[in-house]
Amino acid sequence: MSYNLRLNHLQPYPFEKLREVLSACKHDGGLEHIALSIGEPKHAPPSVVIDALSNPQALAQQLAIYPVSRGGDALRQAIAEWLGARFAVEIDPLRHVLPVNGTREALFAFGQAMLSGDAGSLVGMPNPFYQIYEGAALLAGATPFYIANTPDNDYQADFASIAPTTWDAMEVLYICSPGNPTGHLISDAQMRRLIELAHQHDFIIAADECYCEIYFADQPRPGGLLASSEAMGNAEFARCVVFHSLSKRSNLPGLRSGFVAGDAEIIQRFLQYRTYHGCALGMHQQHASTLAWQDEQHVEENRALYEAKFRAVNEILSPFYALQQPAGGFYHWLPTPSDDVSFCQSLFADQHITVMPGTFLGREQEDGFNPGSNHVRVAWVAPLEECVEAAQRLVAFTNS
Ligand SMILES: Cc1ncc(COP(=O)(O)O)c(C=O)c1O
Repeated sequence: MSYNLRLNHLQPYPFEKLREVLSACKHDGGLEHIALSIGEPKHAPPSVVIDALSNPQALAQQLAIYPVSRGGDALRQAIAEWLGARFAVEIDPLRHVLPVNGTREALFAFGQAMLSGDAGSLVGMPNPFYQIYEGAALLAGATPFYIANTPDNDYQADFASIAPTTWDAMEVLYICSPGNPTGHLISDAQMRRLIELAHQHDFIIAADECYCEIYFADQPRPGGLLASSEAMGNAEFARCVVFHSLSKRSNLPGLRSGFVAGDAEIIQRFLQYRTYHGCALGMHQQHASTLAWQDEQHVEENRALYEAKFRAVNEILSPFYALQQPAGGFYHWLPTPSDDVSFCQSLFADQHITVMPGTFLGREQEDGFNPGSNHVRVAWVAPLEECVEAAQRLVAFTNS
């Protein structure tokens, strides 16, 4: 049987690796299992969306229509207005916006649509990272270029250290702000510098901003690539695209809804690809998504829930762990006293808690160092009481 041999380059997903290392571990202490390894939002979805999806008459009409790949006017308008209100940018709903089935699908498909597949072409991405960027590059025939986010550089990517020849070979640069797993932001100054580099070296910046609505009252609201682009005079967003999602903002990971926005020419090419790919959002998804993008109250309530959780677990954990408050998102990126995989295994056996070893979210750089090592990612998605219980167990674990 012949098949696309590039499939062989795809790495197992971190959750598969985690299952494997935990398969040999057993918890005998009788504690209920608490999963802090997966970033699946658990707060309630907005009722306006649930009500819309529960309307049988509307649903019958929506399901009877083949949706178009570019999405309906109402959804694109709602997205453009949301972007305008959130980032103070001027967006043309026709040319700058494309609805997608969540950012994962779009981040992956974007690579297939835009990468040349030429030998030696590079795709830049953070390290540690969201693994889809790597899979998108590999399956499109490009080579991933990992850009380390290490503690000695305050978990920032050192873009300045990248050689001009590397930028020349780069076709797409994935960035993630707020970052998963580090929770760090890419500053406006860094964004602007990246946009200058994208113009100098002719590459596209694909900014994953799916965590941008989860931030904390005492910290600055995360900026975005389009805002930086417009502010520096790149008002048509040349070489810039952003990826947004309702999964985290609105607790709707099952709706599969997000959008890509930015450079009109890139959006047009991506739309052309998607017409063949056949991944238009159903009309019921579009209608529900329109309502979600138009409502901010549930987003504020959602943020308040995360804020309360972080306050509670920070208080419990900070005397015992080197905690850094994330600038956005719902993860702690926790340095571990021992190697992260054994930490994770012992924590599971001792306290029946699962966290994600950082090693599985990163890749070895050329010098053999994996910037995810000696860290674990802790997702505070469970209800407050469960998070508090988990934090107390994490303390008991350090004490044992
Ligand atoms: C950094 C990052 N990007 C994208 C996604 C995909 O989210 P969705 O496809 O639900 O929009 C996730 C999900 O966990 C993520 O962590």
